[in-house]
Amino acid sequence: MSSLAVLHASELVTLSGPKRPRFGAELSEVGIVRDGGMLVRDGKIQKVGSSDEIKKNLGDAEIVDARGRVVMPGFVDAHTHLVFAGDRLDDFERRARGETYEQISKAGGGIWSTVEKTRAASESDLLAQAKRHANWFLRCGTTTVEAKSGYGLTVEDELKILRVLRQLKKEVPLEIVPTFLGAHAVPRGLSPDEYLDVVVMEMLPRVTAENLAEFCDVFCERGYFDIDQSRKILSAAKKLGLSLRGHVDQLTNSGGAKLMAEIGATTADHLEQTDGQRIAALKKANVQPVLLPGSVYALGSSGYPRAREMIEAGLAVVLATDFNPGSSPTPSMPMVLSLACTQMKMSPAEAITASTLNAAYSLNRGDKIGSLEPGKLANFVMFDCEDYRELAYWFGIPQTHSVYVTGQRIVEL
Ligand code: NIG
Ligand code: FE
Repeated sequence: MSSLAVLHASELVTLSGPKRPRFGAELSEVGIVRDGGMLVRDGKIQKVGSSDEIKKNLGDAEIVDARGRVVMPGFVDAHTHLVFAGDRLDDFERRARGETYEQISKAGGGIWSTVEKTRAASESDLLAQAKRHANWFLRCGTTTVEAKSGYGLTVEDELKILRVLRQLKKEVPLEIVPTFLGAHAVPRGLSPDEYLDVVVMEMLPRVTAENLAEFCDVFCERGYFDIDQSRKILSAAKKLGLSLRGHVDQLTNSGGAKLMAEIGATTADHLEQTDGQRIAALKKANVQPVLLPGSVYALGSSGYPRAREMIEAGLAVVLATDFNPGSSPTPSMPMVLSLACTQMKMSPAEAITASTLNAAYSLNRGDKIGSLEPGKLANFVMFDCEDYRELAYWFGIPQTHSVYVTGQRIVEL
């Protein structure tokens, strides 16, 4: 039995409360314990309280003095494209000169250029690059990520990416939730309907037979997969037992959010173009919106999703990075918190709930992670600040002091 006692957190941000996601006004309640502490035994949280309470029953616990720092649950990043080869520096520079994401994609950049590099990379090269990305996440205070395939677009290359994720999970302390995104783009040489058959008839059965994914996602967008094609893919995935997520209403309002509501998806992601009527449809169907302000920022747009309307409509909003080489090259949840507060007018408390507890529920892991409560995994981060709002306030400066996964310290910066 190994045990750990964390003492003297200026604020222990517990996110404690009912065993379900936080809706609407509840996102503001982050459950702070001042001069807080926590007892951890065998990787799980046993007790949470004031430092004085925790000190009463220390036993043989190793003491970790937070020395007046903020302690909170590790971030849960519910939308990333963690496995890819290379970068998209040329796209970045072209966008800086004024070209749009769609123009660059038509001219040979975009998702397709990453697909070519990812196909050419061996499994071990991809794993090495993925490990580098995984370490970036940990250094930013993220302890769980959802990670999608989608830069392979052939049966073997999609499986290769998902196998890299499975291996990565064994080699790094970052917890990884895999999502199959075979329908990320239509590969050259095939029509959308021909490729749809490959996704449905060949990829999905292999992915589920090998147990390589928990979720299925689709890029529902003009020039990628339309509503009917997206519906076919997601329905097939649902029949095979996968839960559903979707890239919807990012560049155009194509009715993607409505489809996610109709099909019973767990999340609808992006939603930059989603209007009030569709927000109501998400609420009715209990779909969690996953907002990705990093991609709006990095594409140089100002069309952020309507976070306030979503919170006021009672949705269990989630924030994530959308880490990918094209539209959102950041693994940093603190950067996302900054954008959420400055650009989408969320409060720091709302942003923290959206990036921990609500994100955990969106990955079907609300019972294990996302808050500091007895019985949950001891995945927590100590930040070099005294007030949790500083995480969203200072930007462009790392504040991570140390990161713990199941009670083990894995990063010391
Ligand atoms: O979430 N929208 C589609 N997929 C990514 C972009 C991927 C890329 O550009 O490589 C996104 O923004
Ligand atoms: Fe994405």
